[in-house]
Amino acid sequence: MEQAKLRRSGLKSKGFLLGCLFLGAISYASAQSDLNGYWDLRVPNGDGTFRDTYLELHQSGETLTGKMFGRNPAGIALEGTIKDGAVRFATVPPPAPAGSSVPPGYRPMAYSGTYQDGKLQLDTPVRGQTVKGVAERTTKEATMPPAPLPLPALRDLPDNQLVRTPPMGWNSWNKFAGKITDADVRTMADAMVSSGMSKLGYVYINIDDTWEGGRDSAGNMITNKKFPDMKALSDYVHSKGLKLGIYSSPGPKTCAGYEGSFGHEVQDAKLFAEWGIDYLKYDLCSARNIYSSTEANHRGLYQKMGEALEASGRPIVYSLCQYGENDPWKWGSKVSGNLWRTTGDIRDSWESMDKIGFGQLEISSYTRPGRWNDPDMLEIGNGGMNGDEYRTHMSLWSLLSAPLIAGNDIRDMSDETKSILLNQEVIAIDQDRAAKPVQTLSKQDKVEVLWRSMDDGSVVVGIFNRGGNPADAGFDWSSLPAGLAGKKLQARDLWKHSAVAVSGGKYTANVPAHGVALLRISAVR
Ligand code: GLA
Repeated sequence: MEQAKLRRSGLKSKGFLLGCLFLGAISYASAQSDLNGYWDLRVPNGDGTFRDTYLELHQSGETLTGKMFGRNPAGIALEGTIKDGAVRFATVPPPAPAGSSVPPGYRPMAYSGTYQDGKLQLDTPVRGQTVKGVAERTTKEATMPPAPLPLPALRDLPDNQLVRTPPMGWNSWNKFAGKITDADVRTMADAMVSSGMSKLGYVYINIDDTWEGGRDSAGNMITNKKFPDMKALSDYVHSKGLKLGIYSSPGPKTCAGYEGSFGHEVQDAKLFAEWGIDYLKYDLCSARNIYSSTEANHRGLYQKMGEALEASGRPIVYSLCQYGENDPWKWGSKVSGNLWRTTGDIRDSWESMDKIGFGQLEISSYTRPGRWNDPDMLEIGNGGMNGDEYRTHMSLWSLLSAPLIAGNDIRDMSDETKSILLNQEVIAIDQDRAAKPVQTLSKQDKVEVLWRSMDDGSVVVGIFNRGGNPADAGFDWSSLPAGLAGKKLQARDLWKHSAVAVSGGKYTANVPAHGVALLRISAVR
């Protein structure tokens, strides 16, 4: 009995001892781990390049706080724990502005993994997949944006005489984002021809972000594994009678974290010319961490590349992408820009397209041949909107003389998508030589009637129903502007491809929810 007691108390004290050791080990591990400081989290992109994200961590016992950032040290706050070598942390949403539940642009991120041998092995879920990265210690200086380089004295660059009508083509970003490859671009060029799109004017095949591979020892930009030979690709695209576009940034990094042209503008423009590039989309991205957002800075940054393109000796369409900050429609032409984004990124949703599209009317008067407002690329055929909404997208972009840059997979299009992107009568509005501004004829509840006069004296009228229910809507024939008043008129419905009877005092159509009726009206000669 005594012995059993003794054994039990022995066991108890052994258990107690083990417990103490265990707890001691944990607090030892946490005490031993000192994650305080700066970390460079490198995540492989799968094409031989890495995406760097920086962490500033503060450890207090098992608690982690800090922030996560690109090269913008403002970053986003994070919170987490380190326990027994296991690390977890997640971003903390910043306060939402009044009247909104989510802070704009905030994407929650969560990481988990281990701390071993001075490295953090971290997993993060991205679109249903686990992405693995390794964070190693770095210095504060290495996480900071580089010092600004001097910008050129502002002057007016000459007009490069390109794209007298809005550029038409295809761009990889909306559908493929970081997944675009050389093979995709080639087959897209094939489809541009076989679908009949190239004959209608869609000639630019534009590679967006994620083709870049860094720089060689001489500072020349190199491609990543997805694009083994850019010159060969450009030869292929040209052999189809098409033109090739590429993408870069005035910052050290592009928006997807790839190599940008900062400090290498002349070298890059020369290389693009050697490759046979015909179009450059130049995206502000990380340059905004180096230069504050002022008209002078943006003009300087874009003039720098404008001068480099001019010096390259090759005609290259120049597409400015700085999201409409500092009114680029007022100075884009001075840096020899041919088009300039007027907004943030479009998404494949009615809300996004509607907001962007109808937000352009006030600046429509800035369009000129060779100088185009760019409300971003088309989403037609990507599946997030219905046919009526995509017809509105195409009609509105055409009335606005916007670039028609398809953003879908043109190798695989439904008949409806084809009927929208290949509608010659609507394309003709977009491509009208006069590029006159679009104007509002009337606005009532959710119905907006817009008109634009064409080079041949005809007038195009779009009856847009922005509401969620079908609506009877129209206009008085007598309210038509320009030289049509009092004349005998003829009219065509550009989506039904049929004549419209001009009779009575008013034209009325039953316009579907989010849909459009588009007419071209001319005087009978
Ligand atoms: C920005 C641009 C997009 C696209 C991406 C690529 O968001 O506005 O159109 O080019 O960058 O990273």
